[in-house]
Amino acid sequence: MADKSTTSKRGTPAEAEPQVPPTPAGAVAEAPAKPRKIYPIVKYGDPMLEKSTPHLKDFDADLEELVEDMFASMYAAQGVGLAAPQIGKSLRIAVVDVTSGKNSEAKIVLANPEVIHFEGEKREEEGCLSIPGFRGYVLRPQFVTVRAQNAKGDFFEIRGEDLLARAFCHEIDHLNGILFLQHLSMLKRDLIRRKIKKLRKQGEW
Ligand code: NI
Repeated sequence: MADKSTTSKRGTPAEAEPQVPPTPAGAVAEAPAKPRKIYPIVKYGDPMLEKSTPHLKDFDADLEELVEDMFASMYAAQGVGLAAPQIGKSLRIAVVDVTSGKNSEAKIVLANPEVIHFEGEKREEEGCLSIPGFRGYVLRPQFVTVRAQNAKGDFFEIRGEDLLARAFCHEIDHLNGILFLQHLSMLKRDLIRRKIKKLRKQGEW
């Protein structure tokens, strides 16, 4: 990945830079980005959202394509996380990017994720792309360490703090068929459910 800052460093020997094959004049350095499928987001009320997903076994080229489409769909919906059930697929995989696409290195794929360590507590407001227009305060760990596989099936561990820890927990909940509503008080949950029911009757959900 080319970094503009390295070109402005004076006196840096060329040998110190990563070796990039010279690009012939007029050639396109990188293939243009492939158009992505933007999936509609499944909304609350669809039973898909309340079903646990099975362990993911097939890490193939189709999955890698799906993951890129999930990122594109998440950015289009302006979310920071998206789980496969939210696009109608019962697969144990989610994507997270708390920078909303500003930093490609912040793209995190969580296949078969497991929280292996958590610490602290934080109560913050959160929402969900599948429950648009509603938010609620949810108590989550302040720090979590997750062990997961990437889109190629390689295992890794990642530690998240604050919003990232919250996003990990929220997406892992989705893979277990749990929505943030289930973490709210019964009173608050019922209030949101009643409002959604009304919206549905009006054909607005
Ligand atoms: Ni959600």
